[in-house]
Amino acid sequence: MSANVLLEFKDAVKRYGDTTVVDGISFTVAPGEFFTLLGPSGCGKTTTLRMIAGLEMPDGGEITLQGRTLAAPARGIYVPIDKRNMGMVFQSYAIWPHLTVFENVAFPLRVRGEPKASLRKRVLDALEVVGLSGYENRGSTELSGGQQQRVALARAIVYTPALLLLDEPLSNLDVKLREQMRLELHALHKRLNLAVVYVTHDQSEALALSDRIAVVNKGKLEQVGTPSEVYEHPLTRFVGDFLGRTIILKGTMHKDGSESIVDIQGAGRVLVNGDAGFGDGTEVRILSRPEDISLLGMGEIVPNQVVGKVEHVAYMGDHLEYTIEAAGRTLILPSGKRDNHPVGASVRLVFDPACVTALSQ
Ligand SMILES: Nc1ncnc2c1ncn2[C@@H]1O[C@H](COP(=O)(O)OP(=O)(O)OP(=O)(O)O)[C@@H](O)[C@H]1O
Ligand SMILES: [Mg+2]
Repeated sequence: MSANVLLEFKDAVKRYGDTTVVDGISFTVAPGEFFTLLGPSGCGKTTTLRMIAGLEMPDGGEITLQGRTLAAPARGIYVPIDKRNMGMVFQSYAIWPHLTVFENVAFPLRVRGEPKASLRKRVLDALEVVGLSGYENRGSTELSGGQQQRVALARAIVYTPALLLLDEPLSNLDVKLREQMRLELHALHKRLNLAVVYVTHDQSEALALSDRIAVVNKGKLEQVGTPSEVYEHPLTRFVGDFLGRTIILKGTMHKDGSESIVDIQGAGRVLVNGDAGFGDGTEVRILSRPEDISLLGMGEIVPNQVVGKVEHVAYMGDHLEYTIEAAGRTLILPSGKRDNHPVGASVRLVFDPACVTALSQ
């Protein structure tokens, strides 16, 4: 295994009865990396995390941490949770209401038999890291939601785990607090340089926090990449739609030397960067993000432009939102308030080839 791999999750399978909820998922996490599993409810994110933690036994595949096999059902290997050295914050943050902040954070150390003197120092250090110095004697119920979340985080990092597992740790917080905690989590990760596997169904959280994102759908990995890779170059329709708004048009691939140009049903031609991997004459779809398309008034149509007609203009306060009919599709495109195109006008949609992906039909 390469030195740059901390965790290897390989071909893991989990079944409940006849249902396969994790269906051959593979990924690796590098030391210090913030790695996110992103996907809709029920796609198998928590189950994946629980298999890493040792709360769930996989039915197939192998899980390896720092070169040590944690689970390999085919070889009869299964390391129990308390021997795995992981910190975890659960989806519904389970801090114990009958314990003080100090005792909540001290719990993992007590379980591990930490001597009294060093225990106190480690708890106070962890509380300082999450910004809760001075709260150690508080009852856990005398805290705000955000503070309780920080207690759960302090408890997860107090014994310096090899890997931190976070299952939607911000989902119980209101929007404003969630955004604040997101920034704090980012800063905390940088400070501790601890590898994190983070689970969320919130695409903006995933984009803002992660070094890499794995998009999960129905127990399978659809794509793994940096936030800009998965956002700007989704490999599947699902990834494109799940990560935000998409503009999708049908067309036919034309290979011209090394260039890949998609002919959009007579409405224009759009260049696709890189080797799109589709043969000449293949029916494809092109996908772009609405904000990567600019609107121009009519003029000569050059490559990377598609003609459309304005159907509706909505005033959104800080921008305009155009409804445009192009190549038989209705598209919603944002535009600056100075770009004034009246209803009924023909317009040019200008694509940025660096931000266009070709997908199969
Ligand atoms: N113990 C169990 N027994 C049977 N089915 C289960 C069990 N745990 C989870 N499942 C099923 O496995 C699938 C994946 O569940 P999982 O909790 O991993 O989803 P998730 O991606 O974390 O979803 P959410 O975003 O809602 O938390 C779901 O269909 C769920 O109903
Ligand atoms: Mg879950």
